[in-house]
Amino acid sequence: MQPKDLLQLSEQFGSPIYVYDADKIKSQYNRLTKAFSKVEKLRINYAMKALSNIAILQLLEEMGSGLDTVSIQEVQLGLHAGYAPERIFYTPNGVSLEEIEEVNALGVQINIDNLSILEQFGAKHPNVPVCIRINPHVMAGGNENISVGHIDSKFGISVHQLPHLVRIVENTKMNIIGIHMHTGSDILDIEVFLYAAEILFDAARNFKNLEFLDFGSGFKVPYKKDDIETDIEELGKKLSKRFNEFCTEYGKNLTLIFEPGKFLVSEAGQFLAKVNVIKQTTSTVFAGIDSGFNHLIRPMFYGSQHVIENISNPKGKERFYSVVGYICETDTFANNRRIAELKEGDILSFKNAGAYCYSMASNYNSRYKPAEVLWMNGQGHLIRAHETFEDLLKNQIPLPVKAKV
Ligand SMILES: Cc1ncc(COP(=O)(O)O)c(C=O)c1O
Repeated sequence: MQPKDLLQLSEQFGSPIYVYDADKIKSQYNRLTKAFSKVEKLRINYAMKALSNIAILQLLEEMGSGLDTVSIQEVQLGLHAGYAPERIFYTPNGVSLEEIEEVNALGVQINIDNLSILEQFGAKHPNVPVCIRINPHVMAGGNENISVGHIDSKFGISVHQLPHLVRIVENTKMNIIGIHMHTGSDILDIEVFLYAAEILFDAARNFKNLEFLDFGSGFKVPYKKDDIETDIEELGKKLSKRFNEFCTEYGKNLTLIFEPGKFLVSEAGQFLAKVNVIKQTTSTVFAGIDSGFNHLIRPMFYGSQHVIENISNPKGKERFYSVVGYICETDTFANNRRIAELKEGDILSFKNAGAYCYSMASNYNSRYKPAEVLWMNGQGHLIRAHETFEDLLKNQIPLPVKAKV
């Protein structure tokens, strides 16, 4: 998408907005399937926590994707968007047995990540085919909040507990059809995937009825020019070979599953916001925008560095700015960043705003959440309207007049 297209969308739909490029989502999906084309049965389950707008879900469904979900509400959104239940995978963490049973009743594939629930679920529903989430104890991921496969992590069943797990399966006679792991997000080195894959293969040797192995996700995408990214093609070559060898050893063509979020949608998204104020201080020049961490929390939460462009003046002389939000706490998007000269009213574009941006947005400071626009076939389609005052009041119940003190 060109700056002039983005500028036009900002004029048409107002500020701030999220814009997603359908072609980029498609090309990432195709890149991943191509990299693993040597695997006979491959399934991509889009991790919808990254971006859960139903138009995006529909787009990925049309491409052939399944869905990775973590809550019953995500499952319901997936069904609403048109996914068949058997194309939805449910990987919760720390949820109740009741929620798992409700999701199971919807016909969705259950993935269980602790022994307590496994035992209870197995005792009550021995005939339901279940996947188990293993914690391989591999330290991987770009940030401690997104490293989820290490020894201190709350996720998955420790590989060291496999003998206990196998005893539960034998006692309950439950049917384990899949093994899953997800070691973290933003994994730089493909050797980490390959190392963790061997642990998964070892775990798989304990079960005779497997249909699939799910390697989770964690592919690192570039945030700026020449940034490190997971070499998907190289990973595809190496992991496909090892996977096919394992299938021969196992005696069955298993399905290989990935559940990427960021890889599919991060680079497709841009966040557009307007410069409200330029404020020169003794130490820096602040550009204050009509947004804050209520709309884009990643820089504050994960320290992510989004490239910021002035699309109103893309060829302007570069100057240093600290780009900040309007929230009543420090909410800095960038410190002393070179950006083409800014003036009040200019529109900034924040790159890599497709994943974990809108989906983590809130109404903090009683601000409205932004609109979302899908750029498809050279046109912008509104896929979520800006909120209004009614949205802020929705579900709130005022005190009855008589109860007021
Ligand atoms: C179980 C699981 N699968 C998949 C993902 C998606 O990861 P990413 O967005 O890095 O591809 C996550 C992210 O938190 C996850 O927890």
